[in-house]
Amino acid sequence: MPTQPVLLEIMLSLVMEPRMELSASKVAAAMAGILRLSADKIDEVRFAVVEACINAFEHSHARDQKVHLRFAVLEKGEHKALKITVRDFGVGFLSGGFQGPRPAGNLRGARRRGWGLKLIKSLMDEVEISSDASGTSIIMQKYEEENHPMTDSLNIKVDRRDEIAVIYAEGYIDNQGGEAVASAAYGLIDEGFKTLLINLAGTKLINTIGISALIEVTEKMIEIEGRLGFCNLTPTIEKAFHTMGLAQYSQLFPDEASAISALAA
Ligand SMILES: Nc1ncnc2c1ncn2[C@@H]1O[C@H](COP(=O)(O)OP(=O)(O)OP(=O)(O)O)[C@@H](O)[C@H]1O
Ligand SMILES: [Mg+2]
Repeated sequence: MPTQPVLLEIMLSLVMEPRMELSASKVAAAMAGILRLSADKIDEVRFAVVEACINAFEHSHARDQKVHLRFAVLEKGEHKALKITVRDFGVGFLSGGFQGPRPAGNLRGARRRGWGLKLIKSLMDEVEISSDASGTSIIMQKYEEENHPMTDSLNIKVDRRDEIAVIYAEGYIDNQGGEAVASAAYGLIDEGFKTLLINLAGTKLINTIGISALIEVTEKMIEIEGRLGFCNLTPTIEKAFHTMGLAQYSQLFPDEASAISALAA
């Protein structure tokens, strides 16, 4: 079978201490988020990872007292998959005869345990368990629903008012995102707008390359003697705008209403 290209990989070793499984669950959620799995699927992945970790903590008796995880995003044909391996170097169980869980309805019976592996299998799309005297490895996969672009692409909407046009930027403003905002702004300038407002309510992350594209827009506005404002910045983005000098050549507003009334005045 051809090996599936690995697009992203994170390795994590957890010390077997109470609640350390939550760190694994956070990484799983972050990776699942990158794949754009739905919130329900992300919860399923987190649940499965937590169960695999607490099994290793509780049952493996691993000498290194650690559980080793690998999170990988794989290209799987048209789609992508999140593959998580939970490995311990403990005593293993399949060789010793594993007593599987009893069916539901027996919760009041003597055996209330034995559901973890069953749940992992039901929550994930593919599960492989191998275990012997050298330890246990649970490999589980969750498939992405549709072919989503992995990186957050920026969404832009434009609202043309009487004298002012508002650009709504939603997503990550990196080099491409910055260029997209800039080309929307240049388009509006070509249409004759001299006052622009860029609403960043939907942007929580920006980088310096993205900001440099916005600085170009401010320079263009100075050139045409127009007015440029930004509103709804997160405190971090606002700080970056100040540090990079963008705030000197444009106006920053807490919200759209105050921006419109100040810019239109
Ligand atoms: N990493 C592991 N190392 C050694 N044995 C394991 C490991 N994971 C599971 N097992 C064995 O498999 C059994 C079944 O695991 P499972 O998670 O289904 O149930 P449980 O942990 O006993 O109970 P529950 O998960 O319902 O709290 C365990 O009781 C244990 O004997
Ligand atoms: Mg368990």
